[in-house]
Amino acid sequence: MTLSDLIKDKAAAAFTAAGFGGAETLTRPSDRPDIGDYQINGALAYAKVTKQNPRVVADAAAAELRKDAFFASVSVDGPGFVNLKIADDALGKLAPEILGSGTCGYAPAGAPTKIVMDYGGPNVAKILHAGHLPSANLGEAVLRLCRFAGDVVVGENYLGDWGRPMGLMIEAVREKYPDLPYFDAKATAFPKHPPFTNDDLIDMYPAASARIKTDADFLARARESTRLLQEGHAGYRALWRQFLDMSVASMKKTYDRLGIRFDVWTGESAAYDRALQLAAAWRKDGTLKLDDGAWIIPLDAAASDAPLPPVIVLNSVGGITYAASDLATIARRADQYHPDIIIYSVDARQSLHLKQVFDAARQTGLAPGVSFENFAFGAVCGADRKPFKTRDGGVMPLDTLIDTAVQSVKARMDAGEIGRGLTDAEKAAVAEKVGVSALKFAGLINDKTKDCVLDIDKITQVEGRTGPYILYTIVRMKAVLDKVGAAGDKTPVMCAHPAERALLLRLYAFPDAVQAAYANRAPHMLADYVFKLAQDFNLFYHDCPIRDAGARTRAARLALTQYTLRAAQSVADILGLMVPDKM
Ligand code: ARG
Repeated sequence: MTLSDLIKDKAAAAFTAAGFGGAETLTRPSDRPDIGDYQINGALAYAKVTKQNPRVVADAAAAELRKDAFFASVSVDGPGFVNLKIADDALGKLAPEILGSGTCGYAPAGAPTKIVMDYGGPNVAKILHAGHLPSANLGEAVLRLCRFAGDVVVGENYLGDWGRPMGLMIEAVREKYPDLPYFDAKATAFPKHPPFTNDDLIDMYPAASARIKTDADFLARARESTRLLQEGHAGYRALWRQFLDMSVASMKKTYDRLGIRFDVWTGESAAYDRALQLAAAWRKDGTLKLDDGAWIIPLDAAASDAPLPPVIVLNSVGGITYAASDLATIARRADQYHPDIIIYSVDARQSLHLKQVFDAARQTGLAPGVSFENFAFGAVCGADRKPFKTRDGGVMPLDTLIDTAVQSVKARMDAGEIGRGLTDAEKAAVAEKVGVSALKFAGLINDKTKDCVLDIDKITQVEGRTGPYILYTIVRMKAVLDKVGAAGDKTPVMCAHPAERALLLRLYAFPDAVQAAYANRAPHMLADYVFKLAQDFNLFYHDCPIRDAGARTRAARLALTQYTLRAAQSVADILGLMVPDKM
């Protein structure tokens, strides 16, 4: 039972007792906390349908509600809004029942949904850069949110590991070391270690990719080696495998730093055989149409929607396309996991591509019963609203972006803003957690469809809507409980002070915040909730003495602190923030 449910039940009972049974109560937390904690808006809708005076309906329901000592005041205003103020002692007494069950009153509703989360998805020819943060960060947060809500989720990192960039890498290596056995069509044994280092990877692809703009011959060779790689050329496969392993190992390190852990690493290469089979079957049964040399799936125009361009499955030289790999991957996921939903954490520039893929999957009956969602998030940029660049103008590696945030936190420690009394070793460990959390929180606090502006100096501040502010407040709660002592779970909470009351009401809204964030796949709703919770806690901490209060008040305030910690820590876990012990 949540407080919102309780109010809804009381409102429904009052409507029925007043003779308006079956009316929708439309209760919600009040917009006007000065006159009420909750408001009932249902009288207007009900009066409209039944052609009565809404004021009469509201007044009659209010008269019923006034009989309940649970409410300190019941008023009617405007055309028929009912405002409810809950009695302080009733509000406090509910705490053990509501906050002590489930996770601060949140309990998953309904049967679990089976979900596949497609997130991360970097192309392996490049190192992870700043632009790779949002897909992973949002995907991980929503994955954790769905798990918190009781769903069964598999997270897959779908790598771009099979297209032309692979041919470019092969050609780049060939130019440097033409005599290596990889390039000998008859060779069967290959060097154990790759002929390049992790650092080489940083410049190799950008250089090769710049070169094809002017060097048509190089481009033709790269195309040809891509084709041979896909067809199974032993040397190219061996080189590609070494390249992939090195890239994945380096990516894993960065994702680890961010606390992002994929259940499965897969990619376009793993979909290749299945895509070939699908294409062959679809050519046979007439699903594919020949169009200007390419084989396509024309999409049915849904009645109201503008028709989408066709999906190209085989390009004009017979190669498997990006869309074909996505379709084959959907088929594999349907077989392997039987999911209800596949969620893609992919940016808005690929919205059309994914819409086409989803429509083609539905139209061809590839994954019956599976529905599809895509986040379509905005771009990530620095304070100047431009993509992050290194000093010499290259794209900024994700590790460098993380380092920048960590160093900014470190500077705040050196300036004595936080971390006083920590040893140097502790400082380094705490700065890493706080810096990473600052980045992640900043990437989650705003609606994901908007562009994400990361002003490193701002997002590491300990005041405001920042990760460090949330962490600092959680550390403060832990310190209170450590120093003053923990409270028993059955301890009632009191509303002796307005700050206590406000904090308690915010806590009772925790299940509603989780539910709304879950239903909308909107981590920003939880980020916003935990920010307000932290603000309410800090006001309470400032205004309500704990250690020096009388025994009953102290116990009540410790209990309130404990519930707040539980709610805040739950949100921190969902958002993937790393809470240090001290800071
Ligand atoms: N590798 C792609 C890119 O870097 C993103 C992959 C998105 N996921 C997908 N299933 N298509 O643009």
